Amino acid sequence: MAGKPFDQLSGDIWYDGTFVPWSDAKLHVLSHGLHYGSSVFEGERAYGGRIFKSEEHTERLLASAGMLGFDIPWTAEQINAAKEETLARMNLVDAYIRPVAWRGSEMMGISAQKNTIHLAIAAWEWPSYFAPEERLKGIRLDMADYRRPDPQTAPYKAKAAGLYMICTISKHAAESKGYADALMLDWRGQIAEATGANVFFIKDGKIHTPTPDCFLDGITRRTVIGLARDRGIEVIERSILPDELSDFEQCFVTGTAAEVTPVSEIAGHQFQVGDIIKNLMEDYDTAVRPEAPSLKAVAG
Ligand SMILES: Cc1ncc(COP(=O)(O)O)c(C=O)c1O
Repeated sequence: MAGKPFDQLSGDIWYDGTFVPWSDAKLHVLSHGLHYGSSVFEGERAYGGRIFKSEEHTERLLASAGMLGFDIPWTAEQINAAKEETLARMNLVDAYIRPVAWRGSEMMGISAQKNTIHLAIAAWEWPSYFAPEERLKGIRLDMADYRRPDPQTAPYKAKAAGLYMICTISKHAAESKGYADALMLDWRGQIAEATGANVFFIKDGKIHTPTPDCFLDGITRRTVIGLARDRGIEVIERSILPDELSDFEQCFVTGTAAEVTPVSEIAGHQFQVGDIIKNLMEDYDTAVRPEAPSLKAVAG
């Protein structure tokens, strides 16, 4: 990817309670989080200076840490305030916010009971996840070889770094074949999600989406389901098999980064970008923007 590496951007990062210059926000190479995947994170977006669903993201961050067996030593209120401070300090209005928590260096083995839990929050300007022109015509997905694991294999509700290992492998494989992303099946062979976004299908004016029983129930997913239902569109959460792909007319993915992005193809199955998707893209854009100031407020 073009552009400056992320460790060379400028500004400040909130790190364990204080702001440090961007280039000083380091961790030691012998950190448990790096070796054993004991790290959880969030991906959030600010629109017009407001972090969308900030409280929900913080709740998920704290819950993710709990599922990995550690407590982040900051309250939800403190984390919410720290995210706001980071945004303000960086002078950002439309931005991506990345809180990350990890186990430190006191013990270097499977057991890490005494390790300090660190928390950092970085924010940077970030455009649409997929290139805008690609977004309008729909992105192309390949099928991933790896599957989302059985809930008895991993804490699937956690936004944990370790769960992204197979996502990066799958996304790289898809990109090397010219696709934008990969669609992952779950351990049973049912359709699960893309590598960093939830998936939806449309047929006969109804929306179908997999039940999130072994993958992340995205905050955007839940928002978009609400927006669709507000429009009177039926949303059916159920198990979906890959055989059904050829029956669907439209497809889109959702996520904090992806927002609402139409899909034009999944491994040879073609989809249209129809009105339901276009309307939901617009509804989502409206939902994330803080209300425009009223004329009176502007005048006064
Ligand atoms: C694997 C995966 N699924 C789904 C999502 C969508 O989640 P959200 O809408 O909360 O960003 C994400 C993004 O965080 C993700 O990484």
